[in-house]
Amino acid sequence: MNCQEFCGIMTAMDANTIRKKFLDFQVKRGHKIIQPAPLVLEGDPTTLFTGSGMQPLLPYLLGKEHPEGTRLCDSQPSMRLQDIEDVGDPRHTTVFEMLGNWSLGDYFKEEQIRGFFEFLTREVGLDPSRIYVTCFIGNEKYGIPRDTEAAEIWQKVFEEAGIEAKIAEVGSASDGDKRGIKPGERIFFYDDHENWWSRGGGCDSTPIGDPCGPDSEVFYDFGEDLQDIEKYGQAHPASDGARFMEIGNQVFMQYRRLEDGSFEELEKKNVDFGGGLERITAASIGSYDVFKISLMKPIIDKLEEISGKSYDNNTDEMRVIADHIRGAYLLAAQGLAPSNKTQGYAMRRLLRRAILRALDLGISSNFLAEIVPIVAENYADLPDAILTHREVALETMLKEENTFRKTLEKGLRELSKLVKHNKILDGKELFKLQDTYGFPFELSVEECYREGIELTKNYRKEFEEALAEQRERSQTASKGMFKGGLEDHGEQTIKYHTATHLLLAALQKLVSPDIVQKGSNTTAERLRFDFNLDHKMTDEEKKAVEDQVNEWIKADLPVVFDEYDKKYARETLKAHGQFWDKYPEKLKVYTIGDFDNPISREVCGGPHVEHTGVIGHFVIKKEESSSAGVRRIKAVLE
Ligand code: ALA
Repeated sequence: MNCQEFCGIMTAMDANTIRKKFLDFQVKRGHKIIQPAPLVLEGDPTTLFTGSGMQPLLPYLLGKEHPEGTRLCDSQPSMRLQDIEDVGDPRHTTVFEMLGNWSLGDYFKEEQIRGFFEFLTREVGLDPSRIYVTCFIGNEKYGIPRDTEAAEIWQKVFEEAGIEAKIAEVGSASDGDKRGIKPGERIFFYDDHENWWSRGGGCDSTPIGDPCGPDSEVFYDFGEDLQDIEKYGQAHPASDGARFMEIGNQVFMQYRRLEDGSFEELEKKNVDFGGGLERITAASIGSYDVFKISLMKPIIDKLEEISGKSYDNNTDEMRVIADHIRGAYLLAAQGLAPSNKTQGYAMRRLLRRAILRALDLGISSNFLAEIVPIVAENYADLPDAILTHREVALETMLKEENTFRKTLEKGLRELSKLVKHNKILDGKELFKLQDTYGFPFELSVEECYREGIELTKNYRKEFEEALAEQRERSQTASKGMFKGGLEDHGEQTIKYHTATHLLLAALQKLVSPDIVQKGSNTTAERLRFDFNLDHKMTDEEKKAVEDQVNEWIKADLPVVFDEYDKKYARETLKAHGQFWDKYPEKLKVYTIGDFDNPISREVCGGPHVEHTGVIGHFVIKKEESSSAGVRRIKAVLE
């Protein structure tokens, strides 16, 4: 069979058509369509959002029986915020849809590979000569053999389509950058960094207990001329360059990692297939830029219209805006609202980043009302079971847009206050504006320029130093907390830290002056505080403490620190401390409120917010016994 017959005439398709075609195709092959999981996960300590189609199926991939049988499929909205900084290039998005099909101990490699190839070439109409694939080279350390079986199936499949398919022995992606592609090569063997799938990554990083296995990835070739060889090396499927784009991944889930680190074969071998809907659509329209597909282009067109600027000259900004509004819409349509914690914070961050990028385009007034309905229309085909709150999504988003505009205005006012006290502003002060009021550095700089406010010569360097310092503190503060979500949750942890000081002060003031801290632990999601008390707190006491803390937060008290001699801190300043014998001779003391008559004064390494107004609303969730004579409070900020 030659290609002409095999692939027919390629027709560009929109994403909704491809989604439907995929599900119909899988149903024809005996699969049941299952309801995708909500994007926003609750009570999962490892991650905030559904990030792949397999995630909700984990128990079944480990052997549990699925009520719908052994052949399943869906299209799963997925979010990967770890990719947020990459958005702006032609292919990365924080939110995407993963087409998925699964065999739970049913068919295996041959049926999967043939099925996906058929879908791509016959249903979507892709040219098979643009398809390249990868397989697992094996891992000696763990005694896992190379996936010769998958490679041989691929060879047959390509041969039947009249395409020469030589096998290339590559190894690592960087080996590939050096070696490139030799004539006739189509099937590439890579190591476990490329072709092993587990939720943690390669063989060494596979989580204990998780299902995993070799995978075979499928790439679309957008054309040789796209490869920037100087930047990325020779083109090959796993290269970072623009020529090849991964459009699907077939995981042959045949192992599970054991406690001792080794891998055992699963009794029932599964297939976990995930394909990027946006990317397959991009291949269908022959565009290596996914922002040209039907789910994106109308947004970009509108942005061009509103800003009067072109996508070609403002590509990065428009991609970020389109991606982030799409992500925020899917969250809002599932009933999430922006807040200062976990998923709500991620949503806030997406929206605010979009609004700031729009400012870069000169869009300085509200514009979401024009964009969100377009996004909603794009997603009209997604099931109601997922988008349970479609009708309030726009309103939720507009509210945040208004709130953020006010933040920006407040930042401007603070900037003009600063100018009254200083003739020349330095980068540290601009950092404070960003850190405390959310007023972005670049905006400050622009505003200073516009208003003729003088900046120090090294203002940028000073800003970057302050930022780096803060990042370091955040990383320390956030170590060990949920990975794979937000990278800047340190700020949230810092708020909890300051709230902890206020809590102690309120307990001392309202419950007993003898209360001291017995233990404290803060994360980006809550604070936990242990203290001495001989009784369970009454509801009245809890309420009074809560109200007091909120009153102090509302009063927007300054938080300052300085270094003192131990004796001075203890005797003169009367700072609260737990370990006076262990403290060094010089120590840091944080004071909240009026310096001469403070609300709280504690020996503490920091970091803290600079004024209490940014903390948010304080709520005691639990008051319980921790050990004899010690009570424990869990509280959150809302
Ligand atoms: N679970 C596989 C992936 O995320 C399909 O690539």
